[in-house]
Formats: sequence, C-alpha cells, structure tokens
Amino acid sequence: MGNIAIRCKDIKKHYGKGENRVDALRGINLDIFKGQLTLLVGPSGSGKTTLLSIITTILTPDHGEVFLLDQSVWQMNDAERSAFCRMYLGIVFQSLFLIPTLTVIENVLLPLRIAGIYGKSADEKGLDLLNKMHLKHRADSSPNDLSKGQQQKIAIARAMINDSQILVCDEPTSALDQTSGLETMTLLREKVLHSERAVLVVTHDQRTFPFADRIIHMNDGQIDE
Ligand SMILES: Nc1ncnc2c1ncn2[C@@H]1O[C@H](COP(=O)(O)OP(=O)(O)OP(=O)(O)O)[C@@H](O)[C@H]1O
Ligand SMILES: [Mg+2]
Repeated sequence: MGNIAIRCKDIKKHYGKGENRVDALRGINLDIFKGQLTLLVGPSGSGKTTLLSIITTILTPDHGEVFLLDQSVWQMNDAERSAFCRMYLGIVFQSLFLIPTLTVIENVLLPLRIAGIYGKSADEKGLDLLNKMHLKHRADSSPNDLSKGQQQKIAIARAMINDSQILVCDEPTSALDQTSGLETMTLLREKVLHSERAVLVVTHDQRTFPFADRIIHMNDGQIDE
C-alpha cells in the first residue's frame, strides 16, 4: 500500500430512519494515490461531502474501514486519531468554518498554533501564503469583512499552512473568479509535485478538470466506474 494515501473499504453511511432514511454511501471502495491530484465529481446529493467527512474522521462510518497512510483510523483511540489527523490532514470545508473573532492571519496560522508552533518564521509562512493568494493586505481584517471568494482562499491557506501529507478540499473554487480559481488549482497542483503528498478535491467546477491526475465520478452513494 506504499503509494496509497487514502483507502476506503466498503464504506456505508446512512442518515435518518424509517421513511426519512437516506443511504448516503452504499459501499465505497476507493484508493487515492500519493503524488496525485484527484477530483471527486458528481451531482448534488450524491454523497461527496459525506465521503469526505468520513475520510477526514469527522463522521463515523456505519460499516467499512478507512486507512490514512496505511493506518486504520477507527482502530486508533480518540486521542491518537485526533493527533494523527492534526499531523497528516489538511481540510477545506464546504462551509469554510473560519473563526470570525480571529483575524485573517490568525485563522491561517491556527493549525500551527494548535501544534504549538509560534514565532517569526511561522508568521512569515502564513503571510507568504496570503501573498500568493493576493490577500496579504487583508491579514489583519476580520474574515467577515471579506468576500466569499476571499474567505474561501483563507480557508485554503489555513488548510495548506502545515504542509500536511494529505489535503482534502470540498468545493474549494466554487466562489472564486477565473484568475483566483486557476491560481488556487496551481497551488494544489504544486503540492503533489512532492511524490508523498496527495490532494483530493470535491468539485462541480469544470475549470478544475485540466489540473487533475484522475477524476472519480460519484452517483447516488456509489463510485461510478
Ligand atoms: N446531516 C444530514 N442529515 C440527513 N441527511 C443528510 C445529512 N447530510 C447529508 N444528507 C443527505 O445525504 C445525501 C448525500 O449528501 P452529501 O452532502 O454528502 O452530498 P454532496 O454530494 O456533497 O452534495 P452537494 O454537491 O450538494 O454538496 C443527500 O441525500 C443529503 O440530503
Ligand atoms: Mg457537498
């Protein structure tokens, strides 16, 4: 499994019960490889966010097993799993989850702060990422004062700050204009030039397709081969 970053084995997940039951994932088997930018595409409601939530251990599967970097995440205890995810995972959520009481740069640096990393070089790394996204001049603003597209870029910078081995993004370009969308995809593409890194992106955005090493289609809780 040396070149596999993420492995899903027969993942099933439902929501609700009785007549409200929704089978969001119906047995997902999937390997995501290191050194690749993989896109996950599919209609609204096909289970993309549910699958990402399970991969990132935010949701527990009803059935099946998730391996991240060869480790079965649900065989770890809670403390081990959260330490592992802090170390190896970066996440851009569909609903961003920026912290409104922190400034832009504080949001970006948050994963480093949680890891106990402070100091000038950490700050410079954050400012450098903001600079690449043309947002350095907004470093001390509140994220609430920025546009949706700018907020999306902050969430992406925050997910990239600790250079984690696995980066998972849910619709990262949905609010971005042409230029920002292409710049963001270029940054994600640069990340997988490092052969140990893997990037998995859920998207509806056809502009992202040329950046992909692989495109996986989902439909009604299943992978469409
Ligand atoms: N918390 C929840 N409670 C109940 N049903 C849910 C919940 N979250 C998702 N679902 C349902 O599960 C199915 C898969 O949803 P999911 O959000 O994973 O789809 P998606 O592919 O990410 O869609 P989109 O492209 O709109 O983001 C849908 O039918 C959705 O309505
Ligand atoms: Mg979704």
